[in-house]
Amino acid sequence: MPDHMSDTIPFSAAPHVRLGSSSGQPITRRDGVLKVTGAATYAADNHPAGMLHAVIAVSTIARGRVASLDVAAAKAHPGVVEVITPANRPPLALDPDVKHGMFGFRFDALQNDRVRYAKQPIAVVVAQTLEAATEGARLLSPTYEIEPARIGFDGGEHFDPPMVSIGAPPNFDRGDLAAGLSAAAHLIDTHYETPAQYHNAMEPHAIVAEWDSDRLTIDTPNQAIVMMRGAFAEFFDVPAENVHLRSPFLGGGFGSKAIMAGPHILCILAARMLRRPVKLVLPRDQMYGPVGHRGATQQHLRLGLDAEGRLTALEHHALATTSSFDDFIEAAANASHNLYASPAISTRHRAVRVDIGTPGPMRAPGEASGSAALECALDEAAAACGIDPLEMRLRNYADIDPATGRPYSAKALRACYAQGAERFGWAGRPLAPRQMRCDAGHLIGWGMGSALFPAPMFQAEARATLRADGTALVETAGADMGQGAWTVLAQIAADGLGLDIEKIEFRSGSSDLPDGGVAGGSGHTATAGSALHNAGTDAIAKLAEIAANDPASPLFGTGNAGVEARNGRLYHRSDRSRSESYGDILARAGLATIEGNGKGGRDPAAAEARAMFSHGAVFAEVKVDPDLGQVRVTRLVGAFAAGRIINPRLARSQLYGGMIWGLSFALHEEAIHDRRSGRIINADLAGYHIPVHADIPEMEALLIDEDDPYVNGLGIKGVGEIGITGTVGAIANAIWHATGVRVRRFPIRIEDLI
Ligand code: MOS
Repeated sequence: MPDHMSDTIPFSAAPHVRLGSSSGQPITRRDGVLKVTGAATYAADNHPAGMLHAVIAVSTIARGRVASLDVAAAKAHPGVVEVITPANRPPLALDPDVKHGMFGFRFDALQNDRVRYAKQPIAVVVAQTLEAATEGARLLSPTYEIEPARIGFDGGEHFDPPMVSIGAPPNFDRGDLAAGLSAAAHLIDTHYETPAQYHNAMEPHAIVAEWDSDRLTIDTPNQAIVMMRGAFAEFFDVPAENVHLRSPFLGGGFGSKAIMAGPHILCILAARMLRRPVKLVLPRDQMYGPVGHRGATQQHLRLGLDAEGRLTALEHHALATTSSFDDFIEAAANASHNLYASPAISTRHRAVRVDIGTPGPMRAPGEASGSAALECALDEAAAACGIDPLEMRLRNYADIDPATGRPYSAKALRACYAQGAERFGWAGRPLAPRQMRCDAGHLIGWGMGSALFPAPMFQAEARATLRADGTALVETAGADMGQGAWTVLAQIAADGLGLDIEKIEFRSGSSDLPDGGVAGGSGHTATAGSALHNAGTDAIAKLAEIAANDPASPLFGTGNAGVEARNGRLYHRSDRSRSESYGDILARAGLATIEGNGKGGRDPAAAEARAMFSHGAVFAEVKVDPDLGQVRVTRLVGAFAAGRIINPRLARSQLYGGMIWGLSFALHEEAIHDRRSGRIINADLAGYHIPVHADIPEMEALLIDEDDPYVNGLGIKGVGEIGITGTVGAIANAIWHATGVRVRRFPIRIEDLI
């Protein structure tokens, strides 16, 4: 990493809570060595004694019913132990076709012979070996009664979804749209299309399930461990405390591992039916069916602008694909609610039912697709008004949240624009396209986009146990998907306890720990971090009380508020010569440990009063071969303001990951459905393109100083998803600036440019 990418940007002082010396440090991942040496055990690394292997047989049609399965042939194969089909599938306590809870999706667990999408589970083969189970599944040779597949925006019935995302209303209106449009000096009326994208975490979904009478142990990567334990318990009608879900390491989550899907349930069913541990790992191609994806969208935007390029109206309609049996919608139009000051904003979401697996959350769900269209439409508006795209955004800067009229909890977006533009060298960019070429004759273009992502919090709990030897155990059932949660959360915990991070033993990733909440929505550090910090300060408060009441302590007579915890000692706030180590306080009190407990979650009053978002600005340079249409992104600079940054190295890594996904969205990713069969024809990493190292340019992610005194006591927002937003538009706009061609369908391909 070049020097200029290291930690030259100053970090926020604490807004409410003063953090100690661990926070703000660019510590490397504490689990990094385990991962690079192979010592980290992922779900599929578990092999309990007597374990069997399950392989799912999936449908090759997208709609109809399974007419026959050659169960006898599969069972006759050496090593095959059982074949589970709808005919012999044991009952579940809950109906998979009824939604349960916030993250409850309808799913397929062999409840009948219907086929609702290609790659839907239609049988499970359990065998002594993976090879035998695989061959058994092949031998099932299904026949079908095929109904025509409904694929594409014109393929199925359009409907008004009851809600979008998780609980948001599908329609939104503020101000007088018609008046704003008719008052406009310029009108941009434009359409954008984004494709279906599928989850391709390095680690596919995997589960090892083991029953011991009515107790269930599950090893499976999961983003919401304690909540999911409860859901599994309900489906199998056992008390939640009988289920132990272990998820110490995840090889990527991205929203897909926040939901329960059919394969999980089928593996647990098989284990119960056969009274043996069973392992099920989805092969790569089965990631393209039962475990969620980003639905395709068609978006229509109308922007009214006055003569100076100020929005008079902003209308954003999104049509999204969803399955025939559930309602998850890629909430693309929400991207227009909170970013640009427009006196009138109107958004609509509609959906189309097609024969695909149900979409679900996928990194920056809604915002990624919606921001792509919005940022390109803004660029069209800037061109129409003859205004620089950055100036355009400044003229439409929202000082209060346009959707709610509330002030922002903090918004350092102006600084993101300024510092990002400075670092990129945006000044002097020619307004017209096709003005810049490199020596090789390739067209060069510069584009930019604004980035925005909500800063939600969920609910979390944590426990901190101070030990007499001056170390501490901190515990929360959080999830490290690779983002570095173990490290960042331990840093926060260390500061809550006034201990060096080396003294912190951090336990996470297991459902027998306090509920760490959901590692999603870019809210995990804020939520679980708050719980851990509160647990630490709770333990310290108890310790301080003991010392204050102990005549033998130098801190005798000091109230709770009169001490400070640092380096394993409590200090009198005004008389530094009075201090005592945690160990001495505990020893005299005859205690081996002292325990603190804490919760994390948003103060509801703060949530009502303020609009809370992370912001950013992304600048892109592309080179386009004018003869071949080949696009190379040559530079990406993002500047992001996301409250207090606990670990700049890991935050930057998250932002790089998001920006790379943005590049992937702009130029690579698309799942292609064959309209006749309904099958995805590129359901593998050969045909489903994602960027490789050679596609990634020099990148910078600047962390912009931002004190947010309202978002939570620690001042923490999220960085996990925002990097995608802004980046897609920046690259597409740079391509327009290079070529003069406005491509309104993603991914942008060679054939769009020649
Ligand atoms: Mo993310 S889509 O909140 O895991």
